[in-house]
Amino acid sequence: MPANAPDSKMLCYCRNVDYGAVRAAIEETDARRVEQVMANCTAGTGCRTCHPEIQELIDEYQARRSGFLKRLVRRILSRG
Ligand code: FES
Repeated sequence: MPANAPDSKMLCYCRNVDYGAVRAAIEETDARRVEQVMANCTAGTGCRTCHPEIQELIDEYQARRSGFLKRLVRRILSRG
């Protein structure tokens, strides 16, 4: 499961990019698509075999971010 992979584990073998670098690229670009990661850190710009793993990391990041924003809005509204 990509979410549990250590940052040091290789994700894109074509471009020698690990999970940590892909996670950083996703956060930096607030990525929703693999192409944003490709442009930021070159992961996925070779054979494209790693695209499903990159997309899974993007989906996990966006789900976490969405959950955080929902909790924040709920907290703000409950103060009203
Ligand atoms: S393994 Fe990532 S592009 Fe080939």
